[in-house]
Amino acid sequence: MSNQHRALHLAARPQDEPKDSDFELRTKDHAALSDGQVRIDVRYISIDPAMRIWMTEQKSYWPPVEMGAVMRASAIGVVSESKNEKFAVGAWVTGMMGVQNSLVSDGKGMRVFDAAQLPDPAWALSVFGGTGLTAWFGLTEIGKPQAGETVVVSAAAGAVGSTVVQIAKNLGCRVIGIAGGPEKCAFVKNELGADEVIDYKNDNISDALKAHCPDGIDVYFDNVGGETLDAVLKRLKLKARIVLCGGISQYNAGKDARGPVNYLSLISARGKMEGFVIIDYLDRAQEAIAALGAMTAQGKMKSKLDIVEGLENFPEALRRVLTGKNYGKQLVKI
Ligand SMILES: NC(=O)c1ccc[n+]([C@@H]2O[C@H](COP(=O)([O-])OP(=O)(O)OC[C@H]3O[C@@H](n4cnc5c(N)ncnc54)[C@H](OP(=O)(O)O)[C@@H]3O)[C@@H](O)[C@H]2O)c1
Repeated sequence: MSNQHRALHLAARPQDEPKDSDFELRTKDHAALSDGQVRIDVRYISIDPAMRIWMTEQKSYWPPVEMGAVMRASAIGVVSESKNEKFAVGAWVTGMMGVQNSLVSDGKGMRVFDAAQLPDPAWALSVFGGTGLTAWFGLTEIGKPQAGETVVVSAAAGAVGSTVVQIAKNLGCRVIGIAGGPEKCAFVKNELGADEVIDYKNDNISDALKAHCPDGIDVYFDNVGGETLDAVLKRLKLKARIVLCGGISQYNAGKDARGPVNYLSLISARGKMEGFVIIDYLDRAQEAIAALGAMTAQGKMKSKLDIVEGLENFPEALRRVLTGKNYGKQLVKI
């Protein structure tokens, strides 16, 4: 453990891409624990594109991070000191810990997990964390794919998208992954098992969807919005379902965010487009963990981790996901 507490506080609301100067590093001595409290040393911080929205004043499923507050983040860590009998020293815990190297907690919202059961403790933030739960519940509860159906996934090499590709394949679907660049596309096809891939940076998305989905699309798992969503809307099958998971192509646009132009095709397709937020499914987490655990045990689930080291590199890690430089689940290692 560092002998000082270090935390990144929100110092400015970004206009476009988040800058280093949007955060302020503050250090102080560690506070002594009171009864019922634990000290957690943070090991990995999860980088989530929604952080970009939490930094604004925009209304979302969580209130904005207040100016001057520690930046919100989910993370995993190890209990280093405990005055709470539910948390033994040495236990791995997960929860909303913030962008800091350690925290004092009363234990509320912190969950102990058995790191020895995972291929790597960091999987508690990928397949077995918010990422995996988002992929599982978004796909199975909103997309409801049936074996043999055609499922299209955007940001398919990313954390949520790569998990969706593998779950959909496991459910017997035909899967088309969309990702940026030949290297990511090769990963989605060769490592994750997608049937076809579309490189949206080099291919014409509409032409490629026409070629790969001649009979149309049953389920679209949307992580990006923008022109990809518009291209998919033109190729919907009857009773198609669009899972609105995220719209990362619009997150830096603020008030200029663009909605879909081709939404009227939902009428003729009798289709559905539905948003969801993973926090609504947390009480059912064990269902997803059991299903994803079974896939992992059978060697049918891969999780690529993209690790940036050092608390002070958090802004760069956030920029990586917002610009597609990340390759798999983006984490900051403390
Ligand atoms: N609804 C929920 O509860 C929930 C929960 C978690 C995450 N999400 C959403 O799920 C999506 C994926 O999150 P993640 O954590 O798994 O991140 P991620 O996919 O690992 O990283 C983001 C990826 O988005 C792609 N991207 C970035 N800018 C883009 C652009 N302008 N156009 C198209 N693609 C772009 C990049 O991949 P390429 O290199 O392929 O462009 C980048 O690697 C995000 O929209 C996030 O907000 C929603």
